[in-house]
Amino acid sequence: MSSIKKKFVCQNCGYESIQWLGKCPSCGSWNTFSEEFEKKTKTKSSSSKISSSEKLFNINERVDLKTFRVKTGISEFDRVLGGGLIQGSVILIAGDPGIGKSTLVLQAVSKLNNKVIYVTGEESLEQISLRASRLKIQNENLFILPETNLNLILEIFEREAPSVVVIDSIQTIYREELDGSPGTIGQIRECTASLMEYAKKNNVAVIIIGHITKDGLIAGPKALEHIVDTVIQFSGEKNYSFRILRAIKNRFGSTNEIGIFEMQENGLKEVENPSQVFLAEREYGASGSVVTSIIEGTRPLLVEVQALVTASGYGMAQRVTTGFDSRRLSILLAVIEKRLNFKLSQFNVFLNVAGGVEIDEPAADLAACIAIISSIKDIPADSLTCVVGEVGLGGEIRAVSYIEKRIQEAQKLGFKKIVVPVQKLNLSLSDYQINIVQIKTLKEAFKEILE
Ligand code: TYD
Ligand code: MG
Repeated sequence: MSSIKKKFVCQNCGYESIQWLGKCPSCGSWNTFSEEFEKKTKTKSSSSKISSSEKLFNINERVDLKTFRVKTGISEFDRVLGGGLIQGSVILIAGDPGIGKSTLVLQAVSKLNNKVIYVTGEESLEQISLRASRLKIQNENLFILPETNLNLILEIFEREAPSVVVIDSIQTIYREELDGSPGTIGQIRECTASLMEYAKKNNVAVIIIGHITKDGLIAGPKALEHIVDTVIQFSGEKNYSFRILRAIKNRFGSTNEIGIFEMQENGLKEVENPSQVFLAEREYGASGSVVTSIIEGTRPLLVEVQALVTASGYGMAQRVTTGFDSRRLSILLAVIEKRLNFKLSQFNVFLNVAGGVEIDEPAADLAACIAIISSIKDIPADSLTCVVGEVGLGGEIRAVSYIEKRIQEAQKLGFKKIVVPVQKLNLSLSDYQINIVQIKTLKEAFKEILE
């Protein structure tokens, strides 16, 4: 009944080939193929018997998602999920090792009244207990299962009939009928597929934790993205205490919302007013520091962009960024050189977004440029001025999305002035409490803010 198949699988994206390849034709990564054996045994699912619970649904029968939602009680988490956990769905929580995934999920399930089984393949019972006491968790319905064999895990699930289960982590569990150690792409994919089947059949919410490295390698979670219903990324710089939760795929909600947490002594705390927290450590009156208003998900967020420009004594000038795209910086430096006549080739430029935030929208361009010029000239920008705008190659300042939200956030946080592109606003300028200055070019912005 069983046949053994031999194949080579890209450990990054799961592409399969009958021979070893140096470069993956699917994802382009090098040296990621390894040999895997697959022993195919007939599973229950492939039998042709239809169980009585499977029937056809007429399109007129409406199924309301709301009735399947379970609120975890961590509102930032629920919001990113689209309103709570969905029964019968599989959620992948992905992130760097040590970022706080286990902490987040344990906290989230600890407030549920439903029966929860938390499978740990990574940590011992002692470690989980230690974390639970650190997080002050008390819950009659939350059970820990230290096990890595998926067949046994599923058997226990069938017996115990939980409504929410957690797998921590997918890299540690395995199915014994598959050759290949836990963590290989074949194991990860098969285990996830089995869990998906279990979730749908039993109407259970399954939370899977998966490790990702920055380039997505080793763990191969890309191969999982299309299997599961929801992929949530938990990120942040380990040296900072802020963590950002973001949906990158969601079959039951939008991928726009983010949740912001702070890792504290006893667990993750939701951050209710992120802008305030991100600006808390700002040093007033320092050159090279500019505040901008970015959009994270659907919420505005004020962050500080810091630049430090120093003469490079020897050799190549350095350009180093944290939280800002380095290619974008190169473009902005070229625009500053060409349009404002600053010679930058002899200067090191360091650009940093404070608090570990990653900016990936051009609306922060202008703030970066002003921070750089402020550092070169050693003139501080006014600390109650916020700066927003995309910088074009011609040195023109381009319109940005959600300008109203950005302005309102700056106003709410007590900023006196905001420099924005020339674009249509809902109200006339005099109706805002904050002073709005609309500018057309980088040169104008520079004059407005630093002269
Ligand atoms: P953890 O949830 O184990 O990360 P992951 O599951 O993503 O690997 O969290 C690891 C870090 O969080 C660890 O460095 C300790 C820190 N931490 C706190 O600062 N406060 C806490 O209350 C807890 C539980 C962990
Ligand atoms: Mg963990």
